[in-house]
Amino acid sequence: MKMNIDGETRHLFAVWMENGVVRLIDQRKLPEKIEIFDAKNSDDIAYSIKDMLVRGAPAIGVTAAYGLAMAKINGEDMDEAVRKIRSTRPTAYDLFKAIDFMKENGFLEAAARRYSNEISSRCKKIGEYGNELIGNDSRILTHCNAGALAVVDWGTAIAPMRIAHDSGKKLFVYVDETRPRLQGARLTAWELAQEGIDHAIIADNAAGHYMKAGKVDLVIVGADRITASGDFANKIGTYEKAVLAKENGIPFYVAAPGSTFDFSLSGGQDIPIEERSPDEVLYIEGKRLGPEQSTALNPAFDVTPFRYVSGFITEYGIFRPEDLPKLRRSMEKDLFMKATPQDAK
Ligand code: MRU
Repeated sequence: MKMNIDGETRHLFAVWMENGVVRLIDQRKLPEKIEIFDAKNSDDIAYSIKDMLVRGAPAIGVTAAYGLAMAKINGEDMDEAVRKIRSTRPTAYDLFKAIDFMKENGFLEAAARRYSNEISSRCKKIGEYGNELIGNDSRILTHCNAGALAVVDWGTAIAPMRIAHDSGKKLFVYVDETRPRLQGARLTAWELAQEGIDHAIIADNAAGHYMKAGKVDLVIVGADRITASGDFANKIGTYEKAVLAKENGIPFYVAAPGSTFDFSLSGGQDIPIEERSPDEVLYIEGKRLGPEQSTALNPAFDVTPFRYVSGFITEYGIFRPEDLPKLRRSMEKDLFMKATPQDAK
């Protein structure tokens, strides 16, 4: 992704491996500062994923892949390293896909690099297919951050916007702020600003207002896990955006690489939903919002039923939910995507 660092435009990845160390942009610090965290062992990797220094399903997978390659180089107990990394975040399917890929490939650094390169080039393809849905002067709404930070490069939901913008189309993006962790306000807005894409941050509860006023042409979001039926999990708040889009006749697309599809699950009821600390809801920047007596509930994801989805934008093309068996057949012929993780629940 393009980044302006001290007045200079540079290309940076969300996570990479250098001299046996896994380096990642600490996303908790953005947009105030670009700080790089060096993970030196599997404990650091598990911490980075759990504490969300790195987040977004594909980026979690790539971090796990590099982390396991590093653990192998370090001579760590690999069963223990896998166990630690596997237990960090339960919803993002890419995590399990990446772990299985690394197991099958002997935890080699070359395999982790291949995994990372595959994911980013597949996301570029998502951008190319998704670009076809974007007309000139489109007004697009997105939720959470499904940009380069969430992938390594390009993004999923943001990739079509990058390519549309680069090809000269004029766009305007409504960026849902995405409480409680504000991935929209802090990360998506930052990425769009770096690319010079016109946008505005809106409060999560403002989306319906703009949709009803006829000011949103298209919704594109990412996903953490997509089941065989097309029901999918994404950041909490996605479901209500999908319902609002259908109510207002607005196309609603989900952008994700093959690594996010879990065909072992028949429907959304089986997706494990991560519950995070109530403190993420109760506090902002260390300041408590509600009374001392109150607690909070904090599901990190919700499940949107397939009937709200106009299509899934993937590296294989765009598929309606009823056409997912076709996607499954394409994935079965694709050596990189073929393996199905054994226990991703
Ligand atoms: O909790 P997060 O920030 O990891 O959640 C991220 C999302 O919900 C993204 O939309 C999803 O992982 C797709 S990222 C390309």
